Amino acid sequence: MNKPILIGPFTQLLPMSGLPLKGALADEQLPIIENGGIVVSEGKIQKIGVFTDLKSDGIDIHHIEGEQVCLPGLVDAHTHICFGGTRARDYAMRNAGVSYLEIAKTGGGIWDTVTQTRKATREELVEGILERSQKHLQNGITTIEVKSGYGLSVEQELKMLRAIKQANDKTEADLVATCLAAHIKPKDWSGNNTYLEEMTSTLFPTIKSENLTTRVDAFVEESAFSPEEIAPYFQKAKEMGFDITVHADQFTAGGSEVAVQFGALSADHLEASTEKEIQLLAKSDVISMALPGASMGLGCAYTPARKILDAGGALAIASDHNPGSAPMGDLLTQASILGTFEKLSNAEVLSGITFRASAALKLADKGVLQTGAQADFVTFLTNNYQEITYHQGQLKPNAVWKNGKQIFKKD
Ligand code: NIG
Ligand code: FE
Repeated sequence: MNKPILIGPFTQLLPMSGLPLKGALADEQLPIIENGGIVVSEGKIQKIGVFTDLKSDGIDIHHIEGEQVCLPGLVDAHTHICFGGTRARDYAMRNAGVSYLEIAKTGGGIWDTVTQTRKATREELVEGILERSQKHLQNGITTIEVKSGYGLSVEQELKMLRAIKQANDKTEADLVATCLAAHIKPKDWSGNNTYLEEMTSTLFPTIKSENLTTRVDAFVEESAFSPEEIAPYFQKAKEMGFDITVHADQFTAGGSEVAVQFGALSADHLEASTEKEIQLLAKSDVISMALPGASMGLGCAYTPARKILDAGGALAIASDHNPGSAPMGDLLTQASILGTFEKLSNAEVLSGITFRASAALKLADKGVLQTGAQADFVTFLTNNYQEITYHQGQLKPNAVWKNGKQIFKKD
């Protein structure tokens, strides 16, 4: 067993612990430990508190120089960073006035990335995931959810999920895979049963036997799958023990109701949610996931985050990093800017990218700094945590710690 090590002192240590999962939060509610320290043992947090109180005879100390703020490692609970190719042409077309849905109807959009991803080898996909994960890690994100969904056949979806698993073994970030075989209907599907039936009967059992993921997602939208089409798919997924998550209410409302009905972990997007959906989500245990990167990439409205929180909902914020609707892939920038448009407190923004995001992944030991939690944390060179969102993503982490080890430090 390795010896415990005390890391600190941090000018401000924000453990993000003891806060409610749901509802509005004021900055005054944030617990802040001044001159804080963290005792790490075997990659986990053994103790957290005031640095001088944690000092004891014989304990090794990693001294933190200068004024620094420490937060839990950030959690990006919705990405599509496994893909081939680019959609720069789509982006230019959208900015010339053609809509995302119009581009999709003429064969571009998600289908274009499916074509490019199918051409990539598994090794090429692994390389792409590793490159993007590294960038996220340096931006302070230590846990990254990654979806399939650009394969859209049993073999191609398996290629993506196996690539995510392989990348997880190689990167220092924790990757959480999700099966998004129900992204859109594949244009080339031909078979005796429906595409979704094929996925539940052939893909799901293989996912189980190879232990590729415990999570199933679907895009519920007029241009993808209707609530009626997706119900038997989610039913089967639940029966097989998968957790559910939904791309919901992006352009038209409807998906969030499906999310509530199936007890999903999260309903993601919600740009088109109305008062009805906001109330429904707030009363449920489903986490509402805002994806400001998609609003920025498409030039459309933000998720009504303020209303969701005021209605008592749980709000997480993720990057949706993908080649089409959200090419930027910078969670802290996006979450900070969502805060300015939606009038969110620092406490709400930071909760949305730490413990409220890890709850959407059912990972209670991440996104929070407390005894027993994973020792993943990030530090910023400042003496005031309010500087972090204020700089809208331009104040980059000074150092990133994963499982109690410093894996990145700015020169
Ligand atoms: O979350 N809305 C559906 N799926 C992705 C977009 C994927 C793409 O455009 O390639 C999303 O925005
Ligand atoms: Fe998405």
